[in-house]
Amino acid sequence: MFKTRITAMLGIEYPIIQGGMMWLSTAEFAAAISNAGGFGIITAMSCGSKGRLKEEIRKCKELTDKPFGVNVSMLPDVTSDEKIEEYFDAIIEEGVTAVETAGRNPEPYLPRLKEAGIKVIHKVPAVRYAQIAESIGIDAVTLVGFECAGHPGMDDITTLILVQKATRVLTIPVIAGGGICDAKGFMAALALGAEGVLMGTRFMLTHECWVHQRIEEWLLNATELDTIVIKRSIQNAARVIKNQAAVRALEMERRGATLEELLTVISGQLGLKAFREGDVDAGVISCGQVVGLIDSLKSIKEVIQEIVDGAQEIYQRLGKIVVC
Ligand SMILES: Cc1cc2nc3c(=O)[nH]c(=O)nc-3n(C[C@H](O)[C@H](O)[C@H](O)COP(=O)(O)O)c2cc1C
Repeated sequence: MFKTRITAMLGIEYPIIQGGMMWLSTAEFAAAISNAGGFGIITAMSCGSKGRLKEEIRKCKELTDKPFGVNVSMLPDVTSDEKIEEYFDAIIEEGVTAVETAGRNPEPYLPRLKEAGIKVIHKVPAVRYAQIAESIGIDAVTLVGFECAGHPGMDDITTLILVQKATRVLTIPVIAGGGICDAKGFMAALALGAEGVLMGTRFMLTHECWVHQRIEEWLLNATELDTIVIKRSIQNAARVIKNQAAVRALEMERRGATLEELLTVISGQLGLKAFREGDVDAGVISCGQVVGLIDSLKSIKEVIQEIVDGAQEIYQRLGKIVVC
């Protein structure tokens, strides 16, 4: 039923992609998305070393015979160039269907990835970066809008605008990310010209995601007003839940804190502690505004199936509204 250049490129049933999620998108998690007909993505940065990433890729291959990918976030404040190189080595040696790159231009790694037959989907928060991606030979781009979890860029442009603009100026396929959690968001993205959707926050709130129950409960009770954007002062804006750690980071930024000072509050290890121990205020936790639309925990299969079934209903409803 859903045939786009993205389903063809990735060899998947539904054009529904899980965005890489630090600490959370493990082999088990990515395999569950792929087994449900979407495209699961392991996060390289959670693995910490080439050896661990290779193990994770192998584990995922044992858990699914469907295509899956690996996310490599190349944010300057998080990962060294040597580590990034190691992760690409692991990906090329093990072989996966596609990589999701983010945070920086992946051009230096493209020749080796292409030679290995690995597709590259670059995730960007602005149309100008998507155009650069197209010009260097990227296979597809994901446009993430201001409402997204993680890094929405510095321009504050919403998904509704970014995706349509990108499809006007690009010829490679566009994936829409940021603010999507159900069939309505999915159909809206396709209507804008996207050939697939990417979701993070929705997939975080599934039975298969290992986050502590107290974090899940906090998120299920959260509204669209419960996220904030931090790290603008270091040109690396990030949308996270509005907890004590995030509010503290904002205060430090207002006082002109350096990256080193900020890291005492925003480090990934503190976020991991929050996920593990259920201490909501322990660290910063990426989360999109779409959390305000999510009020129950579901299985990954349910999330994907409800999108697919709901899309058909919407298609029929719109057919009745639009009378020619
Ligand atoms: C908990 C969490 C962790 C994330 N970690 C990463 C990451 O490590 N790398 C990355 O490129 N994106 C990361 N993201 C962003 C997602 O891949 C995706 O772009 C985003 O969630 C889409 O917006 P949405 O949450 O509104 O669906 C993360 C998102 C969440 C919710």
